[in-house]
Amino acid sequence: MKKVLVVGGGGREHAIVDALSRSPQVEKIYCAPGNAGIASQAECVPIKDTDVQSLMDFARNNGIDLTVVGPEAALAVGIVDAFRAAGLAIFGHSRKASYIESSKEFAKELMEKYGVPTAAYRSFTSYAEALEYVSSRPFPAVLKYDGLAAGKGVVIAETLEEADAALKDMLLDEAFGTSGKVVVEDFLSGPEFSFMCFVDGSRVYPMPLSQDHKRAFDNDKGPNTGGMGAYTGLTFITEEDHQFALEAVLQKTADAMVAEGCPLSGVLYGGLMKTSEGVKVIEFNARFGDPETEVVLPLMDSDIYDVFEAVATGRELSSPIVWSEDRTMGVVMASKGYPGSYSKGYNIELNVGEDRCHRIFHMGTARSEDGSYRTAGGRVLMCVARAHDLASCKEEAYAMVKAIKCENLFYRNDIAHWAFE
Ligand code: AMP
Ligand code: GLY
Repeated sequence: MKKVLVVGGGGREHAIVDALSRSPQVEKIYCAPGNAGIASQAECVPIKDTDVQSLMDFARNNGIDLTVVGPEAALAVGIVDAFRAAGLAIFGHSRKASYIESSKEFAKELMEKYGVPTAAYRSFTSYAEALEYVSSRPFPAVLKYDGLAAGKGVVIAETLEEADAALKDMLLDEAFGTSGKVVVEDFLSGPEFSFMCFVDGSRVYPMPLSQDHKRAFDNDKGPNTGGMGAYTGLTFITEEDHQFALEAVLQKTADAMVAEGCPLSGVLYGGLMKTSEGVKVIEFNARFGDPETEVVLPLMDSDIYDVFEAVATGRELSSPIVWSEDRTMGVVMASKGYPGSYSKGYNIELNVGEDRCHRIFHMGTARSEDGSYRTAGGRVLMCVARAHDLASCKEEAYAMVKAIKCENLFYRNDIAHWAFE
């Protein structure tokens, strides 16, 4: 029987812990740092996700068989390299392989070199040159800070004034960080979707497609967030698009990383767009998406420990991963004011029974002294329903949302609207 340590503490990690808890070979799950909801399925240990030395000590002292990394920040500081060097098994990419997410320029150069479809781009370190280039191109302009910026490093500028302000922030004022680099790319349009795969070198094991909802309010209005809901069972992707995305994007990228000497070993997340010219890459992430993971992993009927262990040790899976044909849909409940400033500490009454088809993933909660939950983050809870069809998922997910009582939460009413249009 196996002991697993999951690194991270959001809804994504709750979904990973939930999937691991269904594995017949897993006897004990730890989560660092975890959260109040995760604590009902794993033992939470108060270690920060980037505190690599303490995580290694914990893994060694507690006989952990496998560590699974959720957040990109931990990958970017080299958690995987450090664990491997110490002979500890870990699921996630090396620091170098995780550049595919942490450096926009690395990802764009790779795609250009290997012919993976994406928007045309140029990268700049000089503010004056970037501004000159932007003024010569059509608007809107897409400006991407080259580094991890917690999903906030992309500005879509409608005018030269907006572009100028963003370039100043990114290159002169270090408002997003100190990389000193910006990628400027052409604006693409079309529906976006998320395609995650487990990747071990050139072996690519696809997960079901999903779609995130990035804007805060109904009808895709309001500011960009980390994601307000997600679902599986996309209706706008044809079998041909799906095949193209798998072969010409994800497989090709996995092969390219092998050829570059930094093979992937973990999750490759393609943030893709279906444009009038076909499927193109908007971004890559080197980890599970959040909130996509919360709707994708509940569909896995295989033992996820096997998959993690096979990828972590470079062993080919003996049989394909089995995914349910069901659909899933999840609605995020966020603190009023999110993604701007918000207050925390509001009492939550859950009032919802959970089972295999009704899950509540905690994204940002804490326990009060009396044992009740309270809000402790921007995104707080995600109610996920699984059913044969999306209409039933929608009914069930919103029934869960409506049963939860908390005065400071809001949610979108139109999750999965693309599938019902
Ligand atoms: P990213 O962090 O790269 O995923 O960008 C955040 C969001 O900005 C994406 O989900 C898109 O909605 C939008 N975006 C990024 N790049 C482009 C592009 N080239 N054209 C249009 N929209 C984009
Ligand atoms: N849902 C987008 C992300 O995880 O980056």
